[in-house]
Amino acid sequence: MSDHLLLALALLAAAAAGLGAWRHWHRRSFWLCLGYPLTALAVRATWRKVALGCALTKKRQRFWFTTVPGLVASTGLVRVRRRLQRVAVDTKPRMRWPVPTRHGWRVTVHLLEGQIPDDYAAVADRLAHSWGVHAVRVSSPRPGRVDLAATIQDPLVRIDQAPASIELLKVTVGRLETGAPWVIDFRTVPHWLNAGATQSGKSNLANALIVGLAPQPVALVGFDLKGGVEFTPYAPRLSALATTRAECAGLLDDLVGLMTDRMGLCRAAGARNIWQLPENRRPVPVVVLVDELAELYLMADKSEKDEIARTSTALLRVAQLGRAFGIYLFCCGQRIGSDLGPGVTALRAQCSGRICHRVNDPETATMTLGDLDPAALVSARAIAAETPGVAIVASQDGQWYRARSFYVSEHTAEGAAHTYAHLAPSWADITVGGYAADMTDADLAEFLTPDPVVPEPRKG
Ligand SMILES: Nc1ncnc2c1ncn2[C@@H]1O[C@H](COP(=O)(O)OP(=O)(O)O)[C@@H](O)[C@H]1O
Ligand SMILES: [Mg+2]
Repeated sequence: MSDHLLLALALLAAAAAGLGAWRHWHRRSFWLCLGYPLTALAVRATWRKVALGCALTKKRQRFWFTTVPGLVASTGLVRVRRRLQRVAVDTKPRMRWPVPTRHGWRVTVHLLEGQIPDDYAAVADRLAHSWGVHAVRVSSPRPGRVDLAATIQDPLVRIDQAPASIELLKVTVGRLETGAPWVIDFRTVPHWLNAGATQSGKSNLANALIVGLAPQPVALVGFDLKGGVEFTPYAPRLSALATTRAECAGLLDDLVGLMTDRMGLCRAAGARNIWQLPENRRPVPVVVLVDELAELYLMADKSEKDEIARTSTALLRVAQLGRAFGIYLFCCGQRIGSDLGPGVTALRAQCSGRICHRVNDPETATMTLGDLDPAALVSARAIAAETPGVAIVASQDGQWYRARSFYVSEHTAEGAAHTYAHLAPSWADITVGGYAADMTDADLAEFLTPDPVVPEPRKG
């Protein structure tokens, strides 16, 4: 008898070890064959309790049939004699079958009367705890339905290596929480703000961009007022680099001149932007990388006031007209608050791409992400210091994502800058056009793209 027991125990132990090994060595098939079906059954079976606990149910009147009249008393006094009676019951929202995803599962729920997707977003944390998962994200694909996407573990703790970039001005810089690639596409979203505390991964992201853009036929320009420590190693691939205030002013003048030049080119050809020009006459796109944006606006003493005002106006012009003339901004900074002056506020409104790494204060997150879903701000403030490179990414469609950049060391970026140094167009060649000195407001109106400007965060 005890032999049988021993055998059974041994078999059980072997089965457990086998399952453990399967889970360890091939997590994906384990999840699909075993983990997911069990999870789906459990989620369905416990949905009433979970929905009740998260206050997602509604009271409904139902006819109730009892075999023993009087068993259900409506009050303590009146004994109900009827067999069929109306009682209030909690109805749960109808749930479809969960479907497996790369990092968990997704399920569609039919809203009950009077419910909105926000009701589910408000209890996303409660749902995550009830289901024992890392996070639940809520979206609404069509009226009357919500999609609940559960991620079992944080997919951003470990991510793979950067793939080669595929298209002009498009770089895959990391991975979104959903498992999809995180793509920065300057032709769709021309200007970006990249905020975060020190050591949060801002420079790493800039490195990823440099590595992605270096093999492409684009000109790279750097503004680095912290003495050039960030961008000087990449100088071989940069067409221009400004490290002092005077150089910044000069380079910005060049950029404004370049735009005036390209404006003339477009006008002559009857084009509204450089992309409508025939390919052989299209000027090279320019990507401008700014490290520590605040430095451009900070004043050491009064004498710098005029210079800063000029810098600020020029940078704003570049942001306003850049999209039409192929000049794209990528501005990094620890602080991008209104305290830096009205120039920053206006620039911020032009940058429709927003990236918020870990920040120290809630204001920076609000300033970066603007008037987004409050859940995005909560998520931004919850980014841990142990996961540099994790950021909240938003662009003009109002959607936001948690994402993490691929790790790209300075060494890798420097290597790419040297390898593709021969592709860097010289700044003299780019700015060779005999452009007019100034740009009028009428010019501005003509080529200003009706880009939806990002609203400022609400006060209070
Ligand atoms: N996506 C990432 N994955 C892994 N490590 C990262 C990632 N991004 C940044 N790091 C690490 O975090 C540290 C700080 O990153 P850095 O980009 O220099 O921050 P910042 O420019 O915001 O001060 C670096 O040492 C880098 O190795
Ligand atoms: Mg840095």
